[in-house]
Amino acid sequence: MFKDRSYCGELTLDDAGKQVTLAGWVDTKRDLGGIIFIEMRDVTGIIQVVFDVSKNGEAYQIADRAKSEYCIYACGVVSKRTDDTINPDLKTGMIEVVAHEVVILSESEVPPFPIDVYTNLNEEVRLKYRFLDLRRAEMQQAIVIRHKVMQATRNYLSSNRFFEIETPILNKSTPEGARDFLVPSRINRGMFYALPQSPQLFKQILMISGFDRYFQIARCFRDEDLRNDRQPEFTQIDCELSFITPQIIMQVIEGLIKEMVKVLGNDIHTPFPVMTYDEAMQRYGKDAPDTRFGLELVDVSDIFASSLFNVFKASLDNGGIIKAIVINDEGKISRAMIDEYINYVRTFKAHGLPSVRYTGSNFETGIAKFLSDSEKQKLIDRLSLDSNSLIIFSCDKPKVVNDALGNLRLKIAQQLTMIDDNKLNFLWVVDFPLLEYNAEEGRFYAMHHPFTAPKPECEAMLDSLTPDNVDMIKAQAYDVVLNGVEIGGGSIRINRTMLQKKMFGILGISEEDAKIKFSFLLDALKYGAPPHGGIALGLDRILMILLKRNSIRDVIAFPKTQKGQCLMSEAPSPVSHEQLKELSIKVVEV
Ligand code: AMO
Repeated sequence: MFKDRSYCGELTLDDAGKQVTLAGWVDTKRDLGGIIFIEMRDVTGIIQVVFDVSKNGEAYQIADRAKSEYCIYACGVVSKRTDDTINPDLKTGMIEVVAHEVVILSESEVPPFPIDVYTNLNEEVRLKYRFLDLRRAEMQQAIVIRHKVMQATRNYLSSNRFFEIETPILNKSTPEGARDFLVPSRINRGMFYALPQSPQLFKQILMISGFDRYFQIARCFRDEDLRNDRQPEFTQIDCELSFITPQIIMQVIEGLIKEMVKVLGNDIHTPFPVMTYDEAMQRYGKDAPDTRFGLELVDVSDIFASSLFNVFKASLDNGGIIKAIVINDEGKISRAMIDEYINYVRTFKAHGLPSVRYTGSNFETGIAKFLSDSEKQKLIDRLSLDSNSLIIFSCDKPKVVNDALGNLRLKIAQQLTMIDDNKLNFLWVVDFPLLEYNAEEGRFYAMHHPFTAPKPECEAMLDSLTPDNVDMIKAQAYDVVLNGVEIGGGSIRINRTMLQKKMFGILGISEEDAKIKFSFLLDALKYGAPPHGGIALGLDRILMILLKRNSIRDVIAFPKTQKGQCLMSEAPSPVSHEQLKELSIKVVEV
């Protein structure tokens, strides 16, 4: 019956006159009395199928019974539509199939939402009925593109001498970074596996084993707070290479991203711009800057060294900085909007946002009365002021100022529609600090992960590490950023046991602990570990941006909600007493 089946969305005018068989779903049905039009849908799209009672009464009667979302099979002849019935909104709108046979393969209840409409649907309903949601054109497109991007990835990496190698899902728990998802072992009572946060250690081991280029489209699991670009399980395009430099990795990855973007019919310019971490923080207040628009942060601390404005003075006296952003808003930003911004930056621990308006010739409102003539002139020069603009300042410790203005910059750009949606701004951010200091806990953390190598010229400084010089010790680490989202990150790894042990020590991992958690890595490093490094790209995030979706849930077939639940299968769920008993587990109230 289904042999030589054609696909609805693939028929064209060239097929006119051909007899075809189709299988799919009733998208919409119109009954004009004696003639029924069914828009039939499969994974490739929609075509109109016509049932004319005067031509084939039996097929007409069956078509009459079909309703939305019934699964049907139809045979007919492809015909050119008459000029007045052409549907320009449909890819197959020039043609239709005049049917002489139809079979109802399976009936459908009335769906909880119409499949042909995709705006303003409640996401919870969509996720509960994901099997129907995935029938919608928008979702089918996302899943098909995802497939093609994965195929392009495999082709590209294979032809660049990478081996696709799987690594275990049941792993040893090595708590670093996010929280682990744990899996109890029945056979080994009281013991747990952890699901991999990434294949990091295994891919390094593969380098030591001699597979000098590895990749995997790897599922990763992290028990962390969820956001629109974060899922508890997500997919990485994970790579590791031996005998390389960061530049070689960046070049290979640019080639890969070019292939991925090509799937959507776009071309991009390579090499991508490169910016140091320090410059990104200086100009954008973030390590993943969105470079599609200006509104850059400008340090004006020196201009206000002897300011009469107490807030500036107090902040500088406390070791703070003052940064400004200039918005050429032509007067659009109101006082009420500034109040809203002040409220917004409280989330980032910033108190207030001093501001002033430059009219084109003068400074007015806000802190204008505190500005000396010399400060005014310096501001005009430093900020290149020439037309009606609002200047917003933030003064505090550098982290607070960067967080506040870095995020406010994005909010204002969105509010004033300054972002060109069609741009794909790729960027490498390099020279990250190797470590960061957590003052509350009084300890150092790895900025990327504990296996990242310092820049050779910074290695000696590890012996005199203090919270004050920590920022100066740079790592051989790099992130790739697209439109302000970190879509990938990697580094050159430590390949010497002594240095790896030293890093563990700095991170407060005792020798004993390191042995328990990472002994296999420390062992392997002793046996001729090649220089190696790698990167992992967040596939879901890349697809989200390329497909212009607001959430990575829209590019994953079966995602979890913000609360980590699958509304369709209702995971997670309680398990039976017997199951727990078998695992020697007791759930207690705490
Ligand atoms: P990292 O932790 O930076 O590096 O992860 C790499 C990329 O994975 C994506 N990503 C996520 N996507 C969706 N949901 C999440 N919860 C999530 N977490 C991360 C991001 C990120 O850039 N092993 C290292 C890579 C390496 O050093 O080679 C790693 O996992 O796009």
